[in-house]
Amino acid sequence: MPTISKKGRLMPESPIRKLVPYAEQAKKEGKHIYHLNIGQPDIKTPEVALEAVKNNTVEILSYSRSEGSETYRTKLAAYYKKHDIIVKPEDIVVTTGASEALLFLFSSIMDPGDEVIISEPFYANYIAFSTATGVNVVPAICHIDDNFALPSIETFEKLITPKTKSILICNPGNPTGYLYSKEEIQQLANLAKEHDLFLIADEVYREFVYDGETHYSILQLEGLDEHTIVIDSVSKRYSMCGARVGCLVSRNKTVLQTVLKYAQARLSPPTFAQIASEAALDTPQSYFDDVIAEYVDRRDTLIKELQNIEGVKVGSPKGAFYCIVELPIKNSDDFAQWLLEHFDVNGETVMIAPAGGFYSTPSLGLNQVRIAYVLNKESLIKAVNIIKEALKVYKD
Ligand SMILES: Cc1ncc(COP(=O)(O)O)c(C=O)c1O
Repeated sequence: MPTISKKGRLMPESPIRKLVPYAEQAKKEGKHIYHLNIGQPDIKTPEVALEAVKNNTVEILSYSRSEGSETYRTKLAAYYKKHDIIVKPEDIVVTTGASEALLFLFSSIMDPGDEVIISEPFYANYIAFSTATGVNVVPAICHIDDNFALPSIETFEKLITPKTKSILICNPGNPTGYLYSKEEIQQLANLAKEHDLFLIADEVYREFVYDGETHYSILQLEGLDEHTIVIDSVSKRYSMCGARVGCLVSRNKTVLQTVLKYAQARLSPPTFAQIASEAALDTPQSYFDDVIAEYVDRRDTLIKELQNIEGVKVGSPKGAFYCIVELPIKNSDDFAQWLLEHFDVNGETVMIAPAGGFYSTPSLGLNQVRIAYVLNKESLIKAVNIIKEALKVYKD
């Protein structure tokens, strides 16, 4: 029989999606499932974006330019300016989601065997993109007891080897909700400059920052134009996950030219979705004000409910819409599956993401889960109550 590649065999399963068959079975049995496992917000997509698709008069749904349509990139540059990020349309390559931007970037700046240092726990698909490109992940481990703050810069520096090519952070963070301070970003910038490394920030949750804090982008750093690359997306900002539009932003011309070659090989990002994404840039500030108020309310409710459960530890997220929760169990993979297969409260159960998949260190995250607070408050309260009841009867 023909065999598949070693790389293919090494590709990890998504920790978020691997429980789907159990969830499907539970649904067939008539159970209602609260989905706390995936970052699919229930927030409505802005009207302007949907209207632009409904009302457009396109007669041929043609390819766009490989780097994305000129009008969209021009408007994107204006959006960044509003966030004090000064870039030109030609500094942007539009991609099929942030996912494609990450894949193109890893392929463009790293060779197999090179190393990327990532603050851990991290967005699980970073492992998939590094496996696909043969890049080794070196974790900078962060701890729930420090609310997932960056390890000291001395600890960080010890991770740098001759193979290190880049540092990757997610700001604000998925799965931790951690928001990096300007000082932390500056420290990472100093390291990147001193050791001549790329500094990559996944800023897809830029708008989702709470408690009066402000987001500081690596593209606001002075004197680091050759080092900094931002990954971005419309998926979360406008609740447009299905549009599949993201982008990569950098002032490093060589990086952009290299990424563009990958972009040319896949021809173009989706045309209709770029029309929607361009229109979404006209979304009024009031939309974000409402969305942020909603997420703050949800976060506060979730944390309060979780803190009422004995033996549960939870950080206090400052951004994005996730948190890592430590449970009084040994194996969150088993617990998450058991919730779907064997447990319900009045016909309702919960789907959570076991946190092991957000760590590259095999021994970490085993008693943790990631919860996405993408459901309304009433649902969150019910879902946490299910977890509370489940913990009373679950045996590891
Ligand atoms: C941190 C982070 N980066 C990238 C992505 C992928 O985004 P996209 O839908 O634009 O591919 C996600 C999706 O959840 C994410 O959480």
